Amino acid sequence: MVSQTKRVLRLSLAIAAAFSGLACDKDMRGSGGGSGGDTKVAGGGGKADPGPNAGVTPSPGGGDTILIGEYGSMTGSEATFGQSTHNGIELALAEQNAAGGVKGKKVKLVSYDDRGNAQEVGTVVTRLITQDKVVAIIGEVASSRSLAGGRVAQQYGVPMITPSSTNPEVTKVGDMIFRVCFLDSFQGYVVAKFAAETLKAKKVAILYDQAQAYSKGLKDFFKAEFTRLGGKITTEQAYTGGDPDFNAVLTTIKGTKPDAIFTPGYYNDAGNIALQARKLGITVPLLGGDGWESPKLAEIAGKAIEGSYYSNHYSTEDPRSEVQEFVKKYKDRYGEMPDSLAALAYDATKLLCDALGRAPAWDGKTLARTLAETQGFSGVTGKIQFDANRDAKKPAFMLQMKEGKPVAVTSTDPL
Ligand code: PHE
Repeated sequence: MVSQTKRVLRLSLAIAAAFSGLACDKDMRGSGGGSGGDTKVAGGGGKADPGPNAGVTPSPGGGDTILIGEYGSMTGSEATFGQSTHNGIELALAEQNAAGGVKGKKVKLVSYDDRGNAQEVGTVVTRLITQDKVVAIIGEVASSRSLAGGRVAQQYGVPMITPSSTNPEVTKVGDMIFRVCFLDSFQGYVVAKFAAETLKAKKVAILYDQAQAYSKGLKDFFKAEFTRLGGKITTEQAYTGGDPDFNAVLTTIKGTKPDAIFTPGYYNDAGNIALQARKLGITVPLLGGDGWESPKLAEIAGKAIEGSYYSNHYSTEDPRSEVQEFVKKYKDRYGEMPDSLAALAYDATKLLCDALGRAPAWDGKTLARTLAETQGFSGVTGKIQFDANRDAKKPAFMLQMKEGKPVAVTSTDPL
């Protein structure tokens, strides 16, 4: 087995100090259907009609702009996923265009809100391709929605990069689908190892969202690794995203006396689960995956989430200059700390622009081939290049919630 490096991040006081106190006006565009700058933002709804020229894309010769598309949950129960992703894309494009664009053309974004609804995804991705005629698409965050959108992009032969969908099935949809983040096989391994070796947990209960491909997959990867390490799963309970009441499942879990509870869902549910668990007198740490990543987690759960841990794609405390420069630029522009969705979307957009610059033509096939040839792209979230499945291998962080903020505890390099 390839050696795995695990190091405790030494957080310098200087970096911590640099992050406190700065505040400026929030410039969050794209969540309310308004448009700003080079971005056209539209709500979903309506039926798109795949015309005979569907999928035909401009070549480097025509027009003075290059159009790329985005679909995401700008509203709904995972709204911060879509909003942060949108901000990351916009920041990347603003920089790219200020530096001359791509081959002298400005890169413009068409952005649709899928409202966190998998059915809506089909409509808006079809519209991006057949009506807006984008050359490539960035989306989605939630794996179930990237699976739905990916099928449409693959069918029309338009490259799609998901910044943050970690379920292995997403890129298996076909050769048009790429991702710039790690996979749940790795993430499950990282959390299981952390539970067994750092927390010394022997028995873990699982509470997962049966409606999300992400949650189901990550639960399985965690379970396989935790039991391989000699741990025991005391019980495996399911919920459906948006459920308001977790009392019954949490009572069952409490009865199995676990050392920790692994709950790989999205932040709204995770926040409610934490609240209700503490009310029931459950004191053991909760463990989650990247789906917890949202400023809303601490807003919803308050003290109930203190001390719990989740895995993530980056840490704002990482002293690498790529990270610190990005954090500063993002804070200056939006007045808030960038979460990992913003960082991954920024990387996906910069990487796409890089490929657009290298591609001899911008038809789907040529662009996908050029994307696949990306070598050692230096991103905020680490080095990015694609393996044969168009997946990236990246490090993962374990973060702990402390005073309402995620603080880095360990980082694990890819296997
Ligand atoms: N990895 C999650 C999924 O595939 C999405 C996610 C990524 C959420 C990063 C938050 C942060 O569904």
